[in-house]
Amino acid sequence: MTKDTETLIRLPKRKQSSHDCLIKNSGCLWLSLTSVFTIVLIACFTLLWVYISSGPSRDPGSIVQRLFFRVKAAGTNVKQECAITDERKFDCHPEVGATKSICASRGCCWKPTTPSASNLNSVSSVGVPSCFYPLNYTEYHVGNISRTSDKITAFLSRNTSSYYKEDVKLLKLVVTYESSYRIHIKIYDPLHPRYEVPVEINKPAKIFGSSSAASSFDIKITESPFSFQVYRKDGHVKLLDTSVGGFIFADQFLQLSTLLPSRYVYGLGEHRATLLHSLNWTRVTLWNKDRPPVEHSNLYGSHPFYLVMEEDGRSHGVFLLNSNAMDVILQHAPAITWRAIGGILDFYIFTGPSPANVISQYTELIGRPFMPPYWSLGFHICRYGYKSVNQTLDVALRTHAAGIPQDVQWDDLDYSYGWMDFTYDAERFGDVPGLARTLHDMGMHYMMIFDPGLSNSQPIGSYLPYDYGMELDLFIKDNVTGKPLVGKVWPGTTVWVDWTHPKAQKYWTTLVTGFHNQVEFDGMWVDMNEPSNMVNGAVDGCPKNSSLENPPYVPAVHGGSLKFFTICPSSTQYTSSHYNLHNLYGLMMTKMSHNALLNARPNQRPFVISRSTYPGQGRYGGHWTGDNAATWHDLYASIPGILNFNLFGIPMVGADICGFRMNTTEPLCQRWYQLGAFYTFSRSHQERDTNSHDPTMFSKTLIDSTRKAYLLRYSLLPHLYTLFYNSHTRGETVLRPLFFEYPKDKNTYGIDQQFMWGKCFLISPVLSENTTEVQGYFPKGSWYDIQTGSQQKSNGQYVTIATPLDKINVHLREGCVIVTQTPNLTTTMSRKNKFGLVVALLDDGKSEGELYADDGKSADSIQKSKYNRILFSASKKDRQITSAVDHLGYHEDMVLGNLTIFNIGTKPSQLTVNGVLCNFTFSQNQVINVEGLTADLKKRLTVKWT
Ligand SMILES: *[C@@H]1O[C@H](CO)[C@@H](O)[C@H](O)[C@H]1NC(C)=O
Ligand SMILES: *[C@@H]1O[C@H](CO)[C@@H](O)[C@H](O)[C@H]1NC(C)=O
Ligand SMILES: *[C@@H]1O[C@H](CO)[C@@H](O)[C@H](O)[C@H]1NC(C)=O
Ligand SMILES: *[C@@H]1O[C@H](CO)[C@@H](O)[C@H](O)[C@H]1NC(C)=O
Ligand SMILES: *[C@@H]1O[C@H](CO)[C@@H](O)[C@H](O)[C@H]1NC(C)=O
Repeated sequence: MTKDTETLIRLPKRKQSSHDCLIKNSGCLWLSLTSVFTIVLIACFTLLWVYISSGPSRDPGSIVQRLFFRVKAAGTNVKQECAITDERKFDCHPEVGATKSICASRGCCWKPTTPSASNLNSVSSVGVPSCFYPLNYTEYHVGNISRTSDKITAFLSRNTSSYYKEDVKLLKLVVTYESSYRIHIKIYDPLHPRYEVPVEINKPAKIFGSSSAASSFDIKITESPFSFQVYRKDGHVKLLDTSVGGFIFADQFLQLSTLLPSRYVYGLGEHRATLLHSLNWTRVTLWNKDRPPVEHSNLYGSHPFYLVMEEDGRSHGVFLLNSNAMDVILQHAPAITWRAIGGILDFYIFTGPSPANVISQYTELIGRPFMPPYWSLGFHICRYGYKSVNQTLDVALRTHAAGIPQDVQWDDLDYSYGWMDFTYDAERFGDVPGLARTLHDMGMHYMMIFDPGLSNSQPIGSYLPYDYGMELDLFIKDNVTGKPLVGKVWPGTTVWVDWTHPKAQKYWTTLVTGFHNQVEFDGMWVDMNEPSNMVNGAVDGCPKNSSLENPPYVPAVHGGSLKFFTICPSSTQYTSSHYNLHNLYGLMMTKMSHNALLNARPNQRPFVISRSTYPGQGRYGGHWTGDNAATWHDLYASIPGILNFNLFGIPMVGADICGFRMNTTEPLCQRWYQLGAFYTFSRSHQERDTNSHDPTMFSKTLIDSTRKAYLLRYSLLPHLYTLFYNSHTRGETVLRPLFFEYPKDKNTYGIDQQFMWGKCFLISPVLSENTTEVQGYFPKGSWYDIQTGSQQKSNGQYVTIATPLDKINVHLREGCVIVTQTPNLTTTMSRKNKFGLVVALLDDGKSEGELYADDGKSADSIQKSKYNRILFSASKKDRQITSAVDHLGYHEDMVLGNLTIFNIGTKPSQLTVNGVLCNFTFSQNQVINVEGLTADLKKRLTVKWT
């Protein structure tokens, strides 16, 4: 047991003693008024202080408090300290039920606002707080500060109590300059180790040497009261400034507020919201929760990370490595408040300066995204409610029959027997092994779902996953009985795998491999891993007297309590309480599934898609945005959703195409297949009680437009795959907001109805009904419709683009060279086709591009250098395109079959490829097309025209 857990169990005892104090206090008060003995007075005031400052739930009108406040007020100038503009007020009473007297008992300022903001639960805006911190609110003071070249350490102490129980009165602050762009600020209890998030963090190989001298930032520490500012050396932009007060570090309440240098804040999820956050007293609650995505609610994952665009177009990011439930408040100041109910304060600040740099610096720390298998970039179809193996297979057959590419067919829990993991229903899905083989014969792949809750009610000896888990003693335990905690999921009563148990990996690998020996599935879909429960806490309820069940401050979680449709926070996992580990449950399941797949399918790249996520998960798998609905609003919301996950280092992400819940409509579904064809993870999926919405269920118009969109996607897959390589090796985003490419153009900061693929493609989908045009923003420059080559020149403006029903707008940016490949019904087949080269010439300057290629499936392609990387360069002025083979390690044929050049100007009289004269077509759009080439892409390429 760690010291931390001791701290946690001590709490109830402490509660006991504060009750004792209540009784003594009344006696003391009487004594103090009637006795003249100084010593008694001192004793009483000490007790009073302890009493008043220890609990938030006092009788508001008590004589004790009034007495205290006269004493306190005497020494300070209350008026001046409370003269704070609304936007700079920081909430001193975030719980429901603030009153003037309770506020005064906290030593805070009171000015009621209507409606009293903090009293509103589960709304978007918490509003101007009525009870707020005065300036120079008594907090921690710095002692013993020491600076070395790479580190600052200091002790922070407070001799008063905050109004939360169990203040940590002595803290240690360690500031480490980890690199020229990364600073680590850790505030923790040096005497009693507390829970820290057990995820792998890539620590710098060696501490960045000459500290502040070589770094782009510096930190200033104010000693009394303690605060710090992190600022850029150049221009002195303050990235963080905690001098606004309200710093508290108690056992179950850790709070830190900082001013922000601008109003452009992104990240902080998983939440459904616009990409650019509103600072209108917005509350973002993090506590992993199975809840169909709606605004203003905690959802499936937790990502305590934000990115800010500064006024001058530079960018920085902040990550709070803390996995406890928390609220994050954004207010107009502009400012942010972190309010977590456990752990420590462990901040990493990334100084960019470009937003792309920030994300790369973030994933350098938490882990780069995994390299996906090529087939996973194809089209996926799934539904809940297939009644038999035949129905599942039929979907793939009819999709291919309609000429629509599809790589992956999925099964939801339908395949299982009694909804139990690692079983299949002998009657309806008896031939699921045959299904997997048939799909493989078609060049396709097969995905199956797995849940972490396992049935505990099967006859002994009949359900290995339970029996084996009991044998290893690795299910999460009820904290009172010490027996496996029992809740309820699809198969009835269930127990949950404790992924922190030392044998969990061995257990999961054994089950996955054993099942894979029967059914050759290609990847794992891990669901219900928030974890989701169909009862609150456990079938027998949760312990009543646990401080983990009833923390003094409960973030604004959906349902009002931590246990709401999940397991008891007090339940026991091997390394800590579920209270601490809850938000990591999906991450750990994803990691163990990834590793299990590596064992079941040796040297095949694992593919795992998870509903619940936490930072660092991108290295093991991807995500879908959960149980969305078939509405136009959900169609739009998918864009900020997928963009955010690229910021979170999980670029393999998509939303259920056409909507999971509700019957979709053809107009919606038609536009959704077009947008969905540009998600990185492109899957159609739906709920059991809905009419099938795979493409062939609709009219020819929808089938045709869907085929067209996916043929376009498939032709661009070599480029998408290259983006994933850059994500995996350098931490680049795959899908990205426009401002990543145009950080100086503030018009792009709020755009979330369009997005980019890498730096070269701008996607502008139709997002509303009965519309055949899009108002799209085109950053300054020339853009080329990838399907026609027609040029869109822009000075940085909105443009109306005609978008008939069969079209999605995909524009190639000037200066880009991209590689395509003739599409086919599966990537297995399309990978054998010829490549194409598309060049968007700049009027002036070099166009550039690159291609990464490998066998698309080996786990060790990069490690063992079994890949090719080819760089392209083109110039309008020099009238030529050339390539250079940067790396050659993959020796399959790679033949260039065609070439397209946009913006070539006047018609050339002749064109040669590798010195050979070629026929070409020239269109009015100034587009050159060359077909029928057989150039080897693995050799240097030269195209010239005159
Ligand atoms: C807060 O403290 C600072 C530094 O000690 C001091 O300069 C300032 O006047 C104080 N502000 C108020 C309102 O007391
Ligand atoms: C902020 O939120 C409040 C309450 O929801 C609303 O009345 C107000 O209009 C909002 N202000 C802005 C600038 O959005
Ligand atoms: C599936 O189709 C095969 C061949 O058409 C048929 O023999 C079998 O009975 C079907 N199974 C189910 C469960 O419908
Ligand atoms: C109950 O929880 C505490 C704190 O997390 C832990 O120390 C203790 O071992 C748990 N007891 C059982 C029976 O799981
Ligand atoms: C979808 O429509 C079918 C009838 O076409 C109906 O039976 C079903 O209940 C509908 N589902 C939902 C979720 O409305």
